[in-house]
Amino acid sequence: MKLGVCYYPEHWPEARWAEDARLMRETGLTRVRIGEFAWSRIEPEPGRFDWGLLDRAVETLHTAGLEIIMGTPTATPPKWLVDRMPDMVALDREGRPRGFGSRRHYCFSHGGYREEAARITRAVAERYGDHPGVVSWQTDNEYGCHDTVQSFSPSARDGFRLWLADCYGTVEALNQAWGNVFWSMEYRSFEEVELPNLTVTEANPAHWLAFRRFSSDQVVRFNRAQVEILRELSPGRDITHNAMGFYTGYDHYDLAADLDVLGWDSYPLGFLEMFRFSEEDKRRFAHSGHPDIAAFHHDLYRGCVKDGRWSVLEQQPGPVNWARHNPAPLPGMVRLWTLEAYAHGAEMLSYFRWRQFPKAQEQMHAGLLRPDATPAPALAEARQAADDLAALGAAGPPVKQAALVFDYAAEWMTQIQPQGEGKSALWAAFHCYSALRRLGLNVDIVHPDAPLDGYALAVVPCQPIVSDTLITNLEAFEGEVVIGPRSGSRDSDFGIPANLAPGKLEALIGGRVVLSESWRPGLAIEGDGWKGTGWFDHLEGEAQPDMTGSDDRVACWKHGRTRYAACWPEGSFIKRVIERAAADAGLPHTPLPDGIRQRRCGDRLFTFDYLTASVSTATPE
Ligand code: GAL
Repeated sequence: MKLGVCYYPEHWPEARWAEDARLMRETGLTRVRIGEFAWSRIEPEPGRFDWGLLDRAVETLHTAGLEIIMGTPTATPPKWLVDRMPDMVALDREGRPRGFGSRRHYCFSHGGYREEAARITRAVAERYGDHPGVVSWQTDNEYGCHDTVQSFSPSARDGFRLWLADCYGTVEALNQAWGNVFWSMEYRSFEEVELPNLTVTEANPAHWLAFRRFSSDQVVRFNRAQVEILRELSPGRDITHNAMGFYTGYDHYDLAADLDVLGWDSYPLGFLEMFRFSEEDKRRFAHSGHPDIAAFHHDLYRGCVKDGRWSVLEQQPGPVNWARHNPAPLPGMVRLWTLEAYAHGAEMLSYFRWRQFPKAQEQMHAGLLRPDATPAPALAEARQAADDLAALGAAGPPVKQAALVFDYAAEWMTQIQPQGEGKSALWAAFHCYSALRRLGLNVDIVHPDAPLDGYALAVVPCQPIVSDTLITNLEAFEGEVVIGPRSGSRDSDFGIPANLAPGKLEALIGGRVVLSESWRPGLAIEGDGWKGTGWFDHLEGEAQPDMTGSDDRVACWKHGRTRYAACWPEGSFIKRVIERAAADAGLPHTPLPDGIRQRRCGDRLFTFDYLTASVSTATPE
């Protein structure tokens, strides 16, 4: 695994660049990511390009022996462009423009902006496409950051109508598929369909699902246009993009199909603070991040891209500026995060950023250097990690144990129709992942249609739409299976299947869900050392009780090798379900000590201690 850093030469005096580059090399960094926000310097006025700055920066970094990842600058269109095309900005859900003055102020559906994005991509690729120092390209920056995938603009509406026509053929088919006879919502033509925001009460869930799919497709299409230009003008270079944490606004499998390497931006402390973790975990892991945050994304994004090529394009080096509270990592954590990425198979990890910038929005965001260019604590840890990596050599092939199915549309559906507060397919997946990791298992997060051969255990936490491929794969699968609530409960247009939930999974699960309840906190089925909460499916059929509460209600069923979790996959309940399934699968099933996580690759076992920030490796017998 290579190490790198995100660098913004446009922020610093040119006289400093060579020293920065030298210090990067001395630290053991070999890659540098630049350019993704530099449009206003590259093209200060419409059509007038000034390559001086970037040319000299590329030369300086290349001469120092650094390999360059060049970004296309389309996340930050300059002021003159927005003034020329004011309707290129996205409109938020309330219909308000998302204006200039920060970043990502564009609508994916705006034809004029798409042309501009292609034009600037072409210009940068023509300039640096065959430069020997440029080894890789990053398209744009964090699609969807600041909630920017969905736009409720006239361009989005027009694009959505065309997308619908393409998808359904006739408006009658759409009316039928969505059940628009309900509340007289029928349309006479695609031109009558509006976007699903600004309705009096909730819009039809099928309407929202179609809009989520459309919005995702627009991102994929926007990205693909850049990829095509880069492939033409810079052959042989890897193309990547940086995905985010706990972010599901577009389908990452679809996006990654056009990339060589999928990157992601790892900010474990910021994510712990901003996402759904208990107050207790937020305090306990304030300086290390919950032990499954980084690994969950490593294992998710590895499974999104062909050949499993992935990297960390941004690694938190110290306090960030954007979470509710922004503590510093425990000494040793930056090194631990680096080595954990390696153990999960990353091919590169790049720290964000080289030097803290004293002005503008991120002035409180740490770097490897302080604003005055003296070393911040992470610099020494990066250097140590570089030495560790050199000593470790190649990571060795991962050991296959458990597969966890995750699908973006599943999360869109639980967001559109949670049915019970907080019932989310993404978080169901995270809880299952955490329960598996607690047993020290290697987990691959996979697409619902991915082959399952070679695993001993397959977990499907919450998969409302089930494909025929998934059914075939599960039927042929020889390991243990765990399936969670709402799986198989919908058809592709959000309708309830004729045979009720779990629809196509009925034979596998050995029963039908005849009633689903969602439960407020405090309602529970209590068993011996576990508590089923949040949700309760009433199942009828041949499946046998696997976990029964003290009141005789069944929280988990079993049929053949398949378990059905009738309560929400969370807390002590899902831990117990997974332990039982792992035991039946012949996998380790005793929980590791608190704060400890492991990863097996090749003949090595890595142990990460999130409470003390220490890492050890062993070669088990
Ligand atoms: C990322 C983004 C970077 C920077 C960073 C700060 O979301 O890609 O440009 O803003 O966060 O943590």
